[in-house]
Amino acid sequence: MCGIVGYIGVKPVKKILIDGLRELEYRGYDSAGIAILQEGHFSLFKAVGKLINLEEKAKNYESSGFSVGIGHTRWATHGKPTELNAHPHLGQNSYVVHNGIIENYQELKTMLVGHGIHFLSQTDTEVIVHLFEYLLKSAATPFDAFKQTLAQIKGAYAILLVNADAEGTIFFAKHGSPMIIGRNHDNETFFGSSDAALIGKCHEVIYLEDGHYGYASSGAIALFDEQNREVALRFTALSENKLSAQKEGYRFFMEKEIYEQSTVLSDTLMGRLRDESIYFEELETTLFDGINEIKLCACGTSYHAALVASYLFERHSKIRTSVEIASEFRYREPFLTPDTLFVVISQSGETADTLESLKMAKKFGLKTMVICNVDNSSMVRLADASILTRAGIEKGVASTKAFATQVCVLWMLSLYLAGERKTLSSSDIQHQITLLRSLPATVSVDDAIHEQLRRLSKRYLHGHGFFFIGRDVFYPLALEGALKLKEISYLHAEGYPSGEMKHGPIALADPELFTIALLPQHMLYDKTKSNIEELSARDSTICSISPLDFDKADDHICTKNAEDYMLEFFEMMVVLQLLSMEIAIRLGNDVDMPRNLAKSVTVE
Ligand code: M6R
Repeated sequence: MCGIVGYIGVKPVKKILIDGLRELEYRGYDSAGIAILQEGHFSLFKAVGKLINLEEKAKNYESSGFSVGIGHTRWATHGKPTELNAHPHLGQNSYVVHNGIIENYQELKTMLVGHGIHFLSQTDTEVIVHLFEYLLKSAATPFDAFKQTLAQIKGAYAILLVNADAEGTIFFAKHGSPMIIGRNHDNETFFGSSDAALIGKCHEVIYLEDGHYGYASSGAIALFDEQNREVALRFTALSENKLSAQKEGYRFFMEKEIYEQSTVLSDTLMGRLRDESIYFEELETTLFDGINEIKLCACGTSYHAALVASYLFERHSKIRTSVEIASEFRYREPFLTPDTLFVVISQSGETADTLESLKMAKKFGLKTMVICNVDNSSMVRLADASILTRAGIEKGVASTKAFATQVCVLWMLSLYLAGERKTLSSSDIQHQITLLRSLPATVSVDDAIHEQLRRLSKRYLHGHGFFFIGRDVFYPLALEGALKLKEISYLHAEGYPSGEMKHGPIALADPELFTIALLPQHMLYDKTKSNIEELSARDSTICSISPLDFDKADDHICTKNAEDYMLEFFEMMVVLQLLSMEIAIRLGNDVDMPRNLAKSVTVE
């Protein structure tokens, strides 16, 4: 997703900004830009695509002496990836870069346009710089105008703004998106949306908190909180090791990615939720014309997301839905009809079996779509339509945040389709949208539960295997829980629908068989409970995950009293991810790079 850098000092500013952006490349982006203010004169460079294009555009620019600069890599949310939509956005005399979303930008834009202000881009960000300049006309100082701007914008943001009347100064603010200020012994000041951009340049940093804003100029930083009180500057030392700094204090990338799910889900939802409908800017309105069936196709974790979707599409959108494992689909001479939308799901967009299945569907003349995390990947380039999941780069081989964002997109898509096909009332869709809005909070890791899982993990290191069981969407979640555990702990684990146990698998039940039972309050609670009791009666060791106490369990992980089964789904997903990670850590395994596995499987 988007990245921000900023610099105040005397070194070659262009290089510092572009080097900083390069450190944020791993987050993914589709355009980039920098704005530099030197001796009262602004220079602006923007380019679509990779940073090399930006370097080419700025190749003749040289600076000497003191300057101020801001830079940005953009992953398109509002408006296509074009130069006009790339940051920094400009007013008459000011430039801004922004991560996040300005929720009330439409109403502010209408007001500003009414005052004769001309907008160049389709972004929400541009409203910030025009609002600032509009308020500057009556404000005592540029900083006052900046404060008034913050008071009027709503949403999530990390902002850097420079104005020619306040030369040598960067105004900054953070609310819901990360922002870090760093400094070094050479009297230079740096900004970054992740400390990855600051390593090797600063020896100490301040991690801004929500509501923090202020200004920085050569050697001086003024920081204020939400109540406009000046805040003492608390610097912490910055690690010099790039890899460990990118892990931001977490033991493994997988752990960081589990903790990041709250933020990335906000990104996934961004701009896609309206009051009573779902909006996908990237979809043509005619996409579903003539479509009576959906066929989902994927591998591994993405296949599990597809299975979840099959429940949601039939339940919400009342459309026939089937799910295919890509490596099977390719060779089984499938019967395909032209009223089928063929949807592939892939984190990487490069998985060979899924890519070949997509090619096959195209050859049959089907309409195709991909749900993917990597823009410009082979599948995104090939499919007729694509929806990006916006999880940011996932480094852990065991997929976590990619799965969370896939399920989130598929849930939204089921509602989008329900709206098109009028299979849910607008009040039902509205209710589902309220649930979607609470996803970021739902997946935020509960410290007490993480600690409980850390302690519990020592009891689940041996035995002859694990059953993960659940019903409805909790069945694919059980499959995903088992896959996670297998991948990183190398222990044998299987996922089953809980009603299926008595048809054979229960023969394995004994105290050395660990059952991880997903027992949501709002989905077939009594049915699942009976299935778990059957296993408990045969002495399997039971670990139940449920908001309701369960006296037949040996261990119980108590989840929140969520109001809907989909929120229970997401909370239990986090529990399963943490459980497998803690078991694997105790076993001394390399959680991020488990044996025999590759992140992107480009061979069949
Ligand atoms: O990039 P894709 O989503 O197409 O990858 C599919 C599988 O290879 C992938 O999900 C794999 O199962 C992960 N290692 C799961 O953690």
